Amino acid sequence: MKLRNSLRVCAALAATLVLGMGSVSAWAGDAAAGKALYPVCTACHGPNGQGNQAMNAPKLAGQEAWYIIKQMQLFQNDARGTAPGDMQGMQMAAMAKGPQLATEEALQNLAAYIGTFPDEPITPTVTGDVEAGKAAYMVCAACHGDKAQGNEAMAGPRLAGQNDWYLVNQIKKYQQGQRGYHDMDHGGRQMRPMVATLTDDAAINNVVAYINTLHP
Ligand code: HEC
Ligand code: HEC
Repeated sequence: MKLRNSLRVCAALAATLVLGMGSVSAWAGDAAAGKALYPVCTACHGPNGQGNQAMNAPKLAGQEAWYIIKQMQLFQNDARGTAPGDMQGMQMAAMAKGPQLATEEALQNLAAYIGTFPDEPITPTVTGDVEAGKAAYMVCAACHGDKAQGNEAMAGPRLAGQNDWYLVNQIKKYQQGQRGYHDMDHGGRQMRPMVATLTDDAAINNVVAYINTLHP
């Protein structure tokens, strides 16, 4: 009897562990509490998370909470922002390591607050051959969605509505090994071979110009 009970407890514990690891979106986060954590982000990402090209800081408005939390954790764990020469990533990593952001609950709250920002359309800065970009995007759709709306099951973030100069920058970082280099960064490691097919600046611009046409 005793043995059976302790087995039951073990099974329950294992199930909780699996559930706990599987998803960060189980707890929705408290936007009001997250608001107090955001002012430090404003200088680079803007008061409404609209992004700031002069600071190389991407738009946060419109991005899904699970992805924002995951990126913060990658920065906190040195899995992003530690590659030689990645000055922008290093700046952001320093911000993510603020002691007030050390718990997952804090990150959930912060992401919930970011989720309240209006998702304003970006001003396009990249031009390219949209038709060629559409063909190149076919391989991306499996993980990012056919409208680049993101696909959490594949860990692929939303790309539509993101600042186009940021998308270009990040594709280059994957190609140069400044992202997706860490063992812990499974998603980033998947991304690296995907952008190997974009062999020159024109190919990158084409696919980003196509993403600019998508409005999920
Ligand atoms: C000093 C400027 C600066 C500050 C302050 C800053 N960031 Fe960043 N952030 C950046 C830059 C630059 C990047 C892009 C890094 C790169 O190129 O890989 C970035 C990237 C990010 C990303 C990754 C987005 C993506 O789609 O890949 C998230 C999430 C983020 N910042 C959230 C925050 C939050 C939340 C705060 C406040 C706690 C904050 N940042 C404060 C400069 C900053
Ligand atoms: C096998 C799945 C997969 C495919 C196919 C794929 N990606 Fe990704 N992509 C990912 C994942 C996962 C991430 C997030 C990595 C992380 O968590 O840091 C990502 C991230 C990105 C980012 C960074 C976005 C941000 O906000 O930081 C860009 C840009 C991107 N992908 C573009 C593309 C393009 C363009 C293609 C097609 C040529 C493509 N991806 C194909 C899985 C994929």
